[in-house]
Amino acid sequence: MKISIKNLNILICDDSISNVLLLEKLLKDSGYVRVAAVTDPVKVLPLMLETQFDLLLLDIEMPGLTGIEVLQQMHRSALHNQFIPVLVLTGNQQPEIRNKALEVGASDFLTKPFDNTEVLLRVRNLLRVRAAYLSQSRMNAELEDRVEKRTQELEKANAILIKRLAQVGEMRDSETGRHVLRVGKYARVLSDAIGLPDDIGYMIEKAAPLHDLGKIGIADKILLKKGKLTEEEREIMNGHAQMGADLLSDHESLLVQMAGSIALSHHEHWDGKGYPKGLQGESIPVEGRITALSDVFDALTTIRPYKKAWAVDEAVDYIKKKAGLQFDPRLVEVFISRLDSILEIKTRFDDSK
Ligand SMILES: [Fe+2]
Ligand SMILES: [Fe+2]
Repeated sequence: MKISIKNLNILICDDSISNVLLLEKLLKDSGYVRVAAVTDPVKVLPLMLETQFDLLLLDIEMPGLTGIEVLQQMHRSALHNQFIPVLVLTGNQQPEIRNKALEVGASDFLTKPFDNTEVLLRVRNLLRVRAAYLSQSRMNAELEDRVEKRTQELEKANAILIKRLAQVGEMRDSETGRHVLRVGKYARVLSDAIGLPDDIGYMIEKAAPLHDLGKIGIADKILLKKGKLTEEEREIMNGHAQMGADLLSDHESLLVQMAGSIALSHHEHWDGKGYPKGLQGESIPVEGRITALSDVFDALTTIRPYKKAWAVDEAVDYIKKKAGLQFDPRLVEVFISRLDSILEIKTRFDDSK
């Protein structure tokens, strides 16, 4: 949208009422519709903070507060980065005063007595620069808005796809749909409790449900086998971690990358005896350590075709025993301290509902 300079807001400040009236009339007669004027320099800053002015015509020699002081006030206020042009009115020809005014933010000068043509030309020129600045910042703001909206849409689409993908993974497994939901929510509690930033907690919550996505690549006869797996079958089954990571690799979305990291690392053990890489301690990504604990707790406390559901106490005892072996000991501590929130999730997202 083109900005008409005649509609921009002009403020005049001169202690001489006749100067103010003269300038106001001159500007209005030549088509500027928004012209305000004050004779008290103390009022300039409050007025400018309240209304957005696009040009200030400012007298220098005034009683009470000089124009230089007004400029200094503006410089110290929120106005200093708004690039509002200031046309300084002065009867003083001394270069020191002019230089001082320029130093504190004056854009141009008008010498008294005014030459009408010069006043109008200097006003026009400053307002043109102002209009260009305003339209540029409007364009930037619109562009930022559009980018922001687009990013949000993409993130939303990614989150939906991730959720669907997690459901696909479950369809082949005997685990229930609620399992992955709870694992995500437990993981969020742990992420928050150890002080991870909000956006990372959000990503872990959304990505953790994909931890077993790689199981879609495991043959039914192994995946759904009722009895104990042979050594060889166990090997194949363990391949689901790498397979999940492969499915989720090479994607720009941070959420998908997070899901890939979780898929790969959710069977690593703190003592280095997990798979697929045998990583140890802090070398296991935190999102993997968090998901591992969340996953095991949920698997223990819910019914599976091959086992009954353990009581919460039994599951907590097991987890405590595995602190420093299978699980990150700090996470185990945090898990126990947040058991209330964990159990609330367990009840709220129970399989029967
Ligand atoms: Fe797994
Ligand atoms: Fe799981």
